[in-house]
Amino acid sequence: MRSFVKTKTAIALALTVTAGAAQADGHGGVEVLHWWTSGGEAAALNVLKEDLEGQGIGWTDMPVAGGGGEQAMTVLRARVTAGNAPTAVQGLGFDIIDWAKQGALANLNDVAAAEGWDAVVPAALQQFAKVDGQWVSAPVNVHSTNWVWANKAVLDANGIAAPETWDDFAAALEKLAAAGVTPIAHGGQAWQDATVFDAVAMSTLGPDGYKAAFIDLDAEALGSDAMIEAFKRMDVIRANVDDNFSGRDWNLATAMVINGEAGFQMMGDWAKGEFLNAGKVPGEDFLCFRFPGTQEQVTFNADQFMMFDQGGAVSSQQAALASAILSPSFQSAFNVVKGSVPARTDVSNEAFDACGKQGMADLAAAAGSGNLFGSMAHGHANDAAVKNAMYDVITAHFNGEYDAETAVMELVDAVEIAQ
Ligand code: BGC
Repeated sequence: MRSFVKTKTAIALALTVTAGAAQADGHGGVEVLHWWTSGGEAAALNVLKEDLEGQGIGWTDMPVAGGGGEQAMTVLRARVTAGNAPTAVQGLGFDIIDWAKQGALANLNDVAAAEGWDAVVPAALQQFAKVDGQWVSAPVNVHSTNWVWANKAVLDANGIAAPETWDDFAAALEKLAAAGVTPIAHGGQAWQDATVFDAVAMSTLGPDGYKAAFIDLDAEALGSDAMIEAFKRMDVIRANVDDNFSGRDWNLATAMVINGEAGFQMMGDWAKGEFLNAGKVPGEDFLCFRFPGTQEQVTFNADQFMMFDQGGAVSSQQAALASAILSPSFQSAFNVVKGSVPARTDVSNEAFDACGKQGMADLAAAAGSGNLFGSMAHGHANDAAVKNAMYDVITAHFNGEYDAETAVMELVDAVEIAQ
């Protein structure tokens, strides 16, 4: 029911903006559909808007609120069905491949060749940006989901150091609960439950098990004892969130850590954008560290802008937008604010803070050691049908519908049906 209402609202929204979009195209600008609506996200988006405005390219904003982008994708489908695709659309992983296979995306090969994207965009991203030899989207960043964000003063006051193992983490949660602090800030939305599960599952299954279960969809790995253990750890996490977690937006959960109401949040590094936007400093006000037991791994997702075919060759505005996104100076300026790291391998880490520098080093190390994996929760492990099937089970378990053993059986079945 909830998703039906959301869908109706999203479609209504899509239809109301149609007139505005046509106008923007008439003036030779770009219409950009995205879900960057939190304070930190909007600050990062401004870097892109200002860059384009500096080149005299008009910008029509088409924000669709909803972390993880599910609502934005619903609006996009309605717009494409109505024959009125936006110029550029934020997209993730397998969704990009899906639109490309449907022939909906413009060919960016000329701009990519002129600017040498093949040599500087990491192979892990090209896998989603280039379909059948054709560049179809411009990668903005690399995010990763296996991070923990902590309020340093809260940890210090309770004698807690950044936990390195699951047992340390569980002990820290106990201490915070005993001190009357909410141990974990969480927003009970399916994509957020799955984001937490990404890291928890990586820590119990290990990199080979994560790949087998979430990328290769191996039934044995999906149904393994390690997966039962992952769900049991989710029970521990569930026991350490506050009573009002259900439905909370991710950035409001981040605010609880920023304000010292909660100790930790497990969230992708877009959370850092919220800390920075609130004037907080890494290492002084907040800590960033990899989820205990996943220090060597990176589960990544990358935001890209898909350029929708407007009938004919890629437009000069689309090419200018793509070129602006891939420029090394933009990659630095944008990602410093967003919390992500550059989508090019040749950008200096100089302007980045300690968490950003760690993010860049971790990404390079993980790529080199075979420890870099597409995030299940953020559309980089499998297509939307499989992802949503996993979401349903993870969320039902988190909300107490299944115990860990049942969740694992449901997961095996759901994935089989979704393929
Ligand atoms: C996107 C991020 C965004 C986050 C929360 C993720 O799927 O990759 O750019 O900040 O969702 O909205």
